[in-house]
Amino acid sequence: MKVHLIAAARPNFMKVAPVWHKLSQTNWCIPTLVHTGQHYDSNMSETFLKELGLPTPEYNLGVGSGTHAKQTAGVLVAYEEILIKDSPDWVIVVGDVNSTLACTLAAKKLCLPVAHLEAGLRSGDRNMPEEINRVITDAISDVLWTPSHDADQNLRREGVSDDRINMIGNIMIDCFELMRNQIENSNVQQTRGLFERDYGVITLHRPGNVDEPSLISNIIDCLITVATDLPLIFPVHPRTRKKLYKFNLMEKITANSGIILTEPMSYVQFMNLVMNSKIVITDSGGIQEETTYLGIPCVTLRNNTERPITIQQGTNRLATFNNLKDQITKALFEVSDGTKPPPLWDGNTAARLAIDLEKRSLENKN
Ligand code: UD1
Repeated sequence: MKVHLIAAARPNFMKVAPVWHKLSQTNWCIPTLVHTGQHYDSNMSETFLKELGLPTPEYNLGVGSGTHAKQTAGVLVAYEEILIKDSPDWVIVVGDVNSTLACTLAAKKLCLPVAHLEAGLRSGDRNMPEEINRVITDAISDVLWTPSHDADQNLRREGVSDDRINMIGNIMIDCFELMRNQIENSNVQQTRGLFERDYGVITLHRPGNVDEPSLISNIIDCLITVATDLPLIFPVHPRTRKKLYKFNLMEKITANSGIILTEPMSYVQFMNLVMNSKIVITDSGGIQEETTYLGIPCVTLRNNTERPITIQQGTNRLATFNNLKDQITKALFEVSDGTKPPPLWDGNTAARLAIDLEKRSLENKN
């Protein structure tokens, strides 16, 4: 059986890797890696493929950057050609990026079965492009593999029948466990001169935070204040770097010795920094989950989250730039007492995925 696994942007590679490795070990499935090229810088893409033991993708659509319409349409057109040529038995899409939606649409228009890994997450905020991608991908995919009960409930509320939903757990945790030895043995924290549990990690890239000059400027001012007491390390996303230069904020940050700016890091390096940190300040989706699993306090610079379970677990809290400093202080001093990870966040999600995929494939044949 031929299965296409779609990877597009940085947060996809750690979801695809455990699935790739698991399916490659079976005697009933040949996975084919398809890279849409949505992320193309070496440190946003190639580094991850190598580090996570993924092969060179069989197809690279080279879609690159562009407006949402251009990017989505570029993947739609390019992937349709490959689907017609290759005719896979299944397409597996992950996450919520533009390529997730575009590949699902291309496959479903050709009546090919699609499974969505990390289905059912909802922020309720349709101003976020990712929310639009999630809603449409889930509406038209055949199989919805969810990470948590809240995702199942969201799907049922939208009228999805139970036979399409399967809670198989959180694939990000599989990747962490797959790479745990390398992460623990990485010395990036020491080489950056940081002491265990005595620094914070920052990531910022959402247009809502970094595209508006006064907003990003206020956020940076707040981080500079935090850095007077706690060193901060900030691997900068390409989008954010462009904006920091454009709004003349780069000099201000680099002048501050409490904030270390770096290029985007590899998965192993980044997770080593996260697991040894005192706090993470982010606007990412996946990092909210990784910190929950590791019991690291996280402040998420967003009005809402599609991952409410991370807040219920007590590790994550939302912040706006108005209450950012306050929420960071609370996160540092009101540390939760180490609750257990949510059910099925256990490193065995890819194994459950493989069992479900084989079962459904056999059912389709009969
Ligand atoms: C995308 C995803 C987002 C995910 C994020 C993780 C969508 C709608 N957004 O956002 O869900 O959280 O990836 O990183 O799919 N750029 C580079 N080099 C690269 C990639 C991007 O320079 O390798 C630049 C682009 O030119 C653009 C900016 O970064 O100016 C944004 O890239 P884009 O792919 O549009 O979205 P992200 O903000 O990365």
